[in-house]
Amino acid sequence: MTWNEAYIMKIFIDTADLNEIKEIASWGILDGVTTNPTLVAKTGKSFNEIIDEIFKLVDEPISLEVLSENAEDMVKEAKELVKKVQEKYQKNVVIKIPMNSEGLKAVKKLSKEKIRTNVTLIFSANQALLAAKAGATYISPFIGRLDDIGQDGMQIIEEITEIFYNYDIKTELIVASIRHPIHVIDAARLGADIATIPPEVIRKMVKHSLTDKGMQSFLSDWKKVKK
Ligand code: G3P
Repeated sequence: MTWNEAYIMKIFIDTADLNEIKEIASWGILDGVTTNPTLVAKTGKSFNEIIDEIFKLVDEPISLEVLSENAEDMVKEAKELVKKVQEKYQKNVVIKIPMNSEGLKAVKKLSKEKIRTNVTLIFSANQALLAAKAGATYISPFIGRLDDIGQDGMQIIEEITEIFYNYDIKTELIVASIRHPIHVIDAARLGADIATIPPEVIRKMVKHSLTDKGMQSFLSDWKKVKK
């Protein structure tokens, strides 16, 4: 960790695409990975194949989602997921649990057993509050999906950061369902702990047309300098 990393919003990559994870991890700016069943399905690879590789590529928290619908099965599935990962990487496993009453029960149980959780599919500050009370390590409000239905997704990030600040809640807020670079700026302005960002948006964050143009003119002017 460099001197200032602890003070900057963490950047997770929201994908199961191994090539993207490898490339963007090589830039030195990644703090974790989040996956979900849709992202795994998009790769066309098996879940086991992906799990093995992701943990080798990124030595940071990696969220894997359970698919069970009741608390008991979620806890069982979470433990199976931890075991699937090589022992040396198990410290990085984070279990994604859906936000509902069964999910809350599972989070409570898992937090007592020191298994880290990321409560997903959060669409309100009340859901965030309950997930934090149950002992979630992380919560993931989906802002893009709120924007899609005509609500201001960033509004709930503002509410959650205020509530978590009021009570010094240790659960970390992951701004999820990010669709474009402005979402990332807004998340950082509100002091979110983490933004989980699709690779195509991370790539857009790097680029600016004036940077490219400036570089082109520096290179062509350098050719005019007497050698
Ligand atoms: O991390 C959550 C994210 O994967 C959901 O994004 O674009 O499907 O709403 P999206």
